[in-house]
Amino acid sequence: MNTTTITASSIQRSRRVEQIVRGQPTSDGDGVKLTRVLTQPLQKRLDPFLMLDAFGSDAASDYIGGFPSHPHRGFETVTIMLEGRMRHQDSVGNVGLLEPGSVQWMTAGRGIIHSEMPEQQEGRMAGFQLWVNLAAKDKMTAPAYRDVPPANVPALTLANGATVRVIAGTALGVAGAVSRPTTEPLVLDITLPAGETFDAALPAGHNAFVYVFGGGVVDVGGEAATRVESERMAVLANDAAADGVRLTAVQPARVLLVAGAPLNEPIAQYGPFVMNTTAQIHEAVADFQRGVLAT
Ligand code: CO
Repeated sequence: MNTTTITASSIQRSRRVEQIVRGQPTSDGDGVKLTRVLTQPLQKRLDPFLMLDAFGSDAASDYIGGFPSHPHRGFETVTIMLEGRMRHQDSVGNVGLLEPGSVQWMTAGRGIIHSEMPEQQEGRMAGFQLWVNLAAKDKMTAPAYRDVPPANVPALTLANGATVRVIAGTALGVAGAVSRPTTEPLVLDITLPAGETFDAALPAGHNAFVYVFGGGVVDVGGEAATRVESERMAVLANDAAADGVRLTAVQPARVLLVAGAPLNEPIAQYGPFVMNTTAQIHEAVADFQRGVLAT
């Protein structure tokens, strides 16, 4: 583990919770059961984030079908594996094993075809997939793929026992595993002991949300905190006077904190393609059908 003990810093004023969202149970790929936490109606509000899926099951029948070969264009996918193993293969020629604690950051750009298949017949599989939009000027960029093994995700331990895995962006002066231009995503995996607090600095103009998981309960928002139960997303209000968010665990908790700079561009989505206009969506479908999406 790349672990650093670090001094916490505190914020002056916390953002408040604007809305609590309970995800929608659904299935995707070849019957993989998951909870879609960030759904299409929230895409404008949480720009540049397009989707957050949470998956977690001990039953192989819930995940064994995996995600067979399928295309993407126009955005980035971030897979955060917590438990279990998945094998990734794509049209660029990348092959990777997603193992517990690893992160995969894939830039679909102008087109990629990939599969994500379980590499286990039993046991628990859990994690997240987050979709981050690309700016109009970057949607047709060359596809790219990065596997980040667990040891390369900086893990900070604070004096109060909190731990923070810096998946993307910068926290407490430590650069995360991934840094992206334009949307400047911040993705933190925070583990908080009961009663302890973590303050995350957030640029005022960025859209942000937290997702509480692992059975914990967290007060979000400092003095005017809202209690957020496990498996709930809290959308954080955009408050020009706030410099971050304060998280205090009521019970031991794990929190995914996500923030990014909005693109403020039109969003046109059809399944795995996210572009700016309907014409561009038709083009993506046509390119896929005639086999040139990922060439
Ligand atoms: Co995919």
